[in-house]
Amino acid sequence: MTKPNLFSGMQPSAGSLHLGNYLGALVNWTKMQDDYNAFYCVVDLHAITVAQDPAELRKNTRVTAAQYLAAGIDHNKSALFVQSHVPAHAQLAWVLMTITGFGEAGRMTQFKDKSQKAGSDSTSVGLFTYPILQAADILLYQPKAVPVGEDQRQHIELTRDLAARFNSRFGETFEIPEVVILKETAKIYDLQNPEAKMSKSGDPKGLVNIMDDSDSIMKKIKSAVTDTDGVIKFDREAKPGVSNLLGIHSAISGESIDALVSHFDGKGYGDLKTEVGEVVLSVIEPIRTRANELLADPAELDRLLIKGANKAQELAEVTLATVYERVGFIAPAR
Ligand code: TYM
Repeated sequence: MTKPNLFSGMQPSAGSLHLGNYLGALVNWTKMQDDYNAFYCVVDLHAITVAQDPAELRKNTRVTAAQYLAAGIDHNKSALFVQSHVPAHAQLAWVLMTITGFGEAGRMTQFKDKSQKAGSDSTSVGLFTYPILQAADILLYQPKAVPVGEDQRQHIELTRDLAARFNSRFGETFEIPEVVILKETAKIYDLQNPEAKMSKSGDPKGLVNIMDDSDSIMKKIKSAVTDTDGVIKFDREAKPGVSNLLGIHSAISGESIDALVSHFDGKGYGDLKTEVGEVVLSVIEPIRTRANELLADPAELDRLLIKGANKAQELAEVTLATVYERVGFIAPAR
């Protein structure tokens, strides 16, 4: 029986993935690759919607791919590739832009947040059309599932709307994909500001990067903001800092929150933080070591990425050709 397809991606917009990317998405990607024909993409076209230094972008693209592999993405099972290697992403995005309403795109909350922070003169049109490129990424591969963190839900909803709209205007073309969000790890919070999601644009002291050295990771976890009542229990509203630490521990150790609360009964926040730090390092250290090994041989890494791009290209070209035909483009003479 053929496996259903799956697509997901991450931006290479920093020198490392962070704990939110890892727990919110990457862990699930590695689990799902056995049951799905998975396509995992490093979305460099998306990264340039905000200013990037070219040398940094090249480096970060390889670092991101190395972390996918180091975390357990198997290049023999899944296609691991770079978005700009498959031109159909940009080509399909153009077609989808023509069926997206201006107001519809303007309602995307990530765009509203980012453009508000940057101001309209520093906000690119590319940032505005970003979610439509994301829809193209997904729809090219006819996936049944798109595993992501909670912050991507609205973009996947838009993707589903655009797929359904195209299908009803031009005939059945796209699979309507389901968003897959794991409740427990849907949102990992900033250690300094535990009401906001952990993000590369947040407080650097609240951000745990996979590629950071272990001492600085431990230090950040030990300085995590908690509260003053000194009781270790899970209450997202009243105790966001402690709840985030318990959530991180539980996601990695597999212990239930209840079991952890009894385990920490009578202990202090210092004990909680030390243990969370140890648990986090137990998964991050091997990933960092393996990623650095992979980065030491960039030619081999690039070879794996080309292999993935070839596999992705095959399917992407078929979908794009169907789309071009459906909208009424004449096929180029061969
Ligand atoms: P990006 O690069 O911001 O994040 C990559 C993945 O990590 C998840 N994530 C989190 N999960 C839990 N807690 C957090 N604090 C946290 N921060 C990030 C994100 O939800 C995501 O799954 N637009 C996408 C990239 C993209 C994409 C796609 C994703 C482009 N095309 C097609 C899926 C399908 C983004 O910026 O993710």
